Amino acid sequence: MADEDKKDSQYILETFNLTKAFGGLVAVNNVNIKAARNKMTMLMGPNGAGKTTFVNVCTGVLKPTSGKVLFDGKDITGWEPHKVYKAGFVRTFQVPEPFLGLTVLDNVLVALGGSGENPIKAALKPLWINEEKSNVERAFEILEAVGLGDYWDRTAAALGAGQLKMLEVARALATGAKLIALDEPIGGTDPAYADEILSYIKGLLKKWDISFLLIEHRIDIALPYADYVYVMDRGKVIAEGDPDEVANNPRVIEIYIG
Ligand SMILES: Nc1ncnc2c1ncn2[C@@H]1O[C@H](COP(=O)(O)OP(=O)(O)OP(=O)(O)O)[C@@H](O)[C@H]1O
Ligand SMILES: [Mg+2]
Repeated sequence: MADEDKKDSQYILETFNLTKAFGGLVAVNNVNIKAARNKMTMLMGPNGAGKTTFVNVCTGVLKPTSGKVLFDGKDITGWEPHKVYKAGFVRTFQVPEPFLGLTVLDNVLVALGGSGENPIKAALKPLWINEEKSNVERAFEILEAVGLGDYWDRTAAALGAGQLKMLEVARALATGAKLIALDEPIGGTDPAYADEILSYIKGLLKKWDISFLLIEHRIDIALPYADYVYVMDRGKVIAEGDPDEVANNPRVIEIYIG
């Protein structure tokens, strides 16, 4: 298949028999997952199922034992984390922690990057000013999209836990991410706020060219927001389908309730 063809694929991420063993423990065992473009793909499963390890192997934090990872049509198997990040596959925790002393707006501006310190660009100041202006506009656009528009002048330190999560998402968007992996974004937040976070993420999918891979074990809250769901248990995908199908799957019920 030509590269162009692969890029046109409806999937932003595809893994083929992806495997990661830690000695005798096969944490990720021949996992085949496809994450569709512009959708929220959810990866659920009980503690120790291998969800975080799967994302770590995809994003280069860990080297796979075997298998293949295609991102946006490119074979990224075994790439260094910074290269995966630059290609547009971002794990929120990879984005440097928000600068708590900076305002919300400045945090997004830093992630957008700029050319203020570049002396050659500084010589072309009129151009630089234009870029600065469009960065500010872009930053506001991003902040509105994640629900932080009204908080632009607060310091990040003044935000609540859920808002900090959304600031992380904003910063990932600012880096030009095409796929954002969120590892338990609603962990530790109360259900009402978790709903709010997930609603904003769903809203982003409508307006932006972005896809999400959501890792969760709090299925009661997160499942309804997913477009497609994979269930892992002890390293393997044991079920997949739309949220309804998965919720009615006897094996899934057994794991969560049985
Ligand atoms: N660096 C490591 N070295 C050895 N074993 C590891 C390592 N990282 C994870 N494991 C093991 O791999 C298995 C899968 O762990 P992982 O963290 O991927 O699960 P998880 O689905 O993310 O769980 P949780 O819901 O608790 O976050 C577990 O048995 C874990 O102990
Ligand atoms: Mg985990």
